[in-house]
Amino acid sequence: MTDSQDLFEASGQPPLGPTGRLMPHIPEPSPPQPGGRALVLAMCNQKGGVGKTTTVINLGAALAETGRRVLLVDFDPQGSLTVGLGFNAHELELSVYHLLMDGDVRLPDVLLHTRTANLDLLPSNIDLSAAEMRLVTEVGREQALARVLRPVLADYDVILVDCQPSLGLLAVNALTAANGVIIPLECEYFALRGVALLQETIEKVRERTNFDLQIVGLLGTMYDGRTLHAREVLQTLVEGWGDTVFHTVIRRTVKFSDSTVAGEPILSYAPASAGSESYRQLAREVLARCPGA
Ligand SMILES: Nc1ncnc2c1ncn2[C@@H]1O[C@H](COP(=O)(O)OP(=O)(O)OP(=O)(O)O)[C@@H](O)[C@H]1O
Ligand SMILES: [Mg+2]
Repeated sequence: MTDSQDLFEASGQPPLGPTGRLMPHIPEPSPPQPGGRALVLAMCNQKGGVGKTTTVINLGAALAETGRRVLLVDFDPQGSLTVGLGFNAHELELSVYHLLMDGDVRLPDVLLHTRTANLDLLPSNIDLSAAEMRLVTEVGREQALARVLRPVLADYDVILVDCQPSLGLLAVNALTAANGVIIPLECEYFALRGVALLQETIEKVRERTNFDLQIVGLLGTMYDGRTLHAREVLQTLVEGWGDTVFHTVIRRTVKFSDSTVAGEPILSYAPASAGSESYRQLAREVLARCPGA
């Protein structure tokens, strides 16, 4: 039983979600629309270890479960997304780096199919760190990722880009290629530090290279409802950002690290777990906020 149901039964009032707001009805997603262009979402926060990669893997798997064709892009030289999906990042012959830097390499040559149906990956490894330096001198350096993704926009319903923890040129490329940004935040003190800086970067990208960029939502991660400070962090987040904060909150559970070690999404590793349900709910929220995807 969820906390919100507890509250409902105790008070007779409608259930409050973990963010302290009334939990709205989040509709089941409609089937994917044939013939559209992929919705591109960047998972971005320059703070490290906030759940970006975990969210890309599991939101991606939850969207794939709805029948959507999903492409995940590892845009972090750490290669955590690649490893988290069961691939050996060191042994890649071709990666996103080659797509960015070598005009002769084609996307299908780099593409990997994961063990999850409808879920593909463009992998990366440490090579990508060189791209940041090499791109600096190129014409259209902010649009390099957008150029790479353009030929497959019709092949996917959703593309999720996993950013590295920095606001450098790679992050600007991800934001330039994206229709929307999702910002995961650990429910800890200091989580909000740095969001203003990220917002500034998003504004700059909006002014210069991507007028239509939207913040799709802020996502509370690693939430422990037993601690007062986790609840306070969510409260502060909602005070500052209102309904931009997702109603879905991802709780802290070791199952996420376990599933990463197993090299698969929590949705297949522990399909009935609370973590899996949270990411399915997040997928419904994202689709409700991004109609047409
Ligand atoms: N909800 C959660 N509960 C418990 N552990 C989690 C949760 N989400 C992520 N983790 C773990 O926390 C660590 C950091 O998560 P993750 O790699 O997703 O963050 P990140 O923002 O991508 O990090 P980086 O900035 O280094 O790329 C990982 O070991 C992951 O398994
Ligand atoms: Mg990561």
